[in-house]
Amino acid sequence: MDNSLSTPVSEPERQHYFIEQAKDYIAAWENKNHRKPTACVTTFGCQMNARDSEKLAGILIAAGFTITADENADFVLYNTCTVRDHANQRVYGRLGKLNHFKKNNPRMKIALCGCMMQEDAVIEKIKANYPFIDLIFGTHNIYKFAELLVAMLNTDEMVIDIWQDTDQIVEDLPVERKYPFKSGINIMFGCNNFCTYCIVPYVRGRERSRPPEDIIDEIKRLVADGVVEIMLLGQNVNSYGLTDRVNDDCNYGLTDRVNDNRNFYPDFPTLLTEIEKITGLERIRFMTSHPKDLSDGLIQVMKDSKKICRHIHLPLQAGSTRILTAMNRGYTKEDYLHLITKIRKAMPDIAITTDIIVGFPGETPADVEETISVVKKVNFDNAFTFLYSKRTGTPAAAMTNQVPAAEAKQNFGRLLKVVQETARLRTGRLVGETHPVLVEEINAQDSLMLNGRLANNTIVHFPGKPDLIGRIVDVKLTESCGFYYLGIALNY
Ligand code: SAH
Ligand code: SF4
Ligand code: F3S
Repeated sequence: MDNSLSTPVSEPERQHYFIEQAKDYIAAWENKNHRKPTACVTTFGCQMNARDSEKLAGILIAAGFTITADENADFVLYNTCTVRDHANQRVYGRLGKLNHFKKNNPRMKIALCGCMMQEDAVIEKIKANYPFIDLIFGTHNIYKFAELLVAMLNTDEMVIDIWQDTDQIVEDLPVERKYPFKSGINIMFGCNNFCTYCIVPYVRGRERSRPPEDIIDEIKRLVADGVVEIMLLGQNVNSYGLTDRVNDDCNYGLTDRVNDNRNFYPDFPTLLTEIEKITGLERIRFMTSHPKDLSDGLIQVMKDSKKICRHIHLPLQAGSTRILTAMNRGYTKEDYLHLITKIRKAMPDIAITTDIIVGFPGETPADVEETISVVKKVNFDNAFTFLYSKRTGTPAAAMTNQVPAAEAKQNFGRLLKVVQETARLRTGRLVGETHPVLVEEINAQDSLMLNGRLANNTIVHFPGKPDLIGRIVDVKLTESCGFYYLGIALNY
C-alpha cells in the first residue's frame, strides 16, 4: 500500500485505512511463516457482547487472519463482561492458560476488550499481574479495533486505550456473523436506568439510539445476505428513540427532537412496524424489555404482527416492592403483575421469560417468598436466576445491609426449585402440536439430530438432514423434556 497517503481523520475511512495496513503486516507474516496467522475471539457476555465479537472477528478476517475456536492461536481476543463477579473470575482464570500457550509460541499476541476493561481497578490489576497482555481497549472505542490492532502489531509494549464515554457510532465496518441465517442488530447503546445493583450504565455509557434509517438499511442488507431472523438489541429497547441519538451534531432536548422532522426518531413500536415491512424477513425478536417502559402500543403492535415472535423477556428482578424500590426499578410488584395480565390477555400463547436476582442488600426470606409467589402467579416459561453480585461503584455496593452469602444461597435454592418446576410444566404445554421451527444447527451429541427454535424461543431437537439449517420447517412436538422438546419434522 502507498504509505505516502496521509491517515484519514474521518470514520469509517480511517479504520479501512488501518485494515489495509494490518493486511500488509499479515501478508508479510504469512510470507515468513508459510501459513496464515490464526485468531480466536472469545465472548464472555450478553448478546450485545456477542454482536461486538462478530464485528471484531470481521475486522480480523479482513486483515487476513483465519478465525479458530482454539485459544492456542497466534492472536487471542477476550471480549469480557463484568455484570457479575463470576464473569471477571472466568477471565482471570483463563488468562493463566493463555500465558502458558504464549510461552510455547512467543509470537502470540493477547488482547482484552469489553465491559470489564472499563473498570480502573481491572486495568491496574492487569498491568501489575498480567504483563504478557499486548492490547487492552474498552467498549467506547471498539470501532477503532483496526487502528489498535496495527498499533499492537508494531510494538512490544502493552497498548492500553480506554475511553470514558463516546457519542460516536461508526457503521460500515466488516462483520463476521456466527450464523448465516440470524443476526443481532444494535438499535441502541448504553443505559440510563441505573438500577442500583447494576454496573452496565458505568461501563457502557449513556443511552444512545441509532437512527432508524441505519437500522432498517442494516436489516435489509442482512436479509439480502440470507438472514431470516433478527434480534433487536438494547438494554431497554422500550425507551428506543426517547433519549439521545447517535451521529448527531447538536444535543437536542426531547421536545426539539419530536418537532424536528429532518431527523425523526420513531418510538419502539413504530420502529417495529417499519421493520415488519421488510420483505424476506421472517422473524423479529428483541431484548431486553424493561417493565417500566413497556407500552400498550408495543403490546398492540406485537399482537397485530405476523413476524414478531410470541416471546418476551421481561426481567422481574424481585417480587417484593420494597426491594424493587431499593433496586430503582421504577415499578411495583402489582405493576408487573398487571403488565403480565395485559400481555397475556392480548396474546394468550406468548412465552414470557425473566431474570431474577436473589440476595440484594436487605432482602429477607419474606421478600423472597414474595418473589416466589410472583413466579407461581406468572408461570414463566423460563427464569434466569442470579445470586446478587456486589459491583464496585454501584449504589447497592455501598449499602450496609448486605445479605450473608449462606442466607442468599439458601433463598436462591428455594426459588430455583419453584422456577424449575413451573417452567417444566409450562414448557410442556405444546406437546402434540405442530409448530414452525427455525433450524439452527446439528445437535452436538447426535449428528443425526438437528436443533431448532420455536417462535416462542423454546429449543426443539428432531431428526433431519443438515441442508435444513437456516430454514423454517414445521415440526410436530412429540415429547417435552423440561426446557426443550423432541419432535419430528413434517414433509421434509
Ligand atoms: N438491561 C437488562 C439486563 C442486563 S444485565 C434489564 O434491565 O433487564 C442481565 C441481568 O443480569 C439482569 O437482568 C440482572 O438480573 C442480572 N444482573 C445485573 N447486575 C447484577 C448483579 N450485580 N448481580 C446479580 N445479577 C445481576
Ligand atoms: Fe442494568 Fe438496569 Fe440498565 Fe438493565 S436497565 S442494564 S439492569 S441498569
Ligand atoms: Fe453485556 Fe456483560 Fe457488558 S452483560 S453489557 S457484556 S457487563
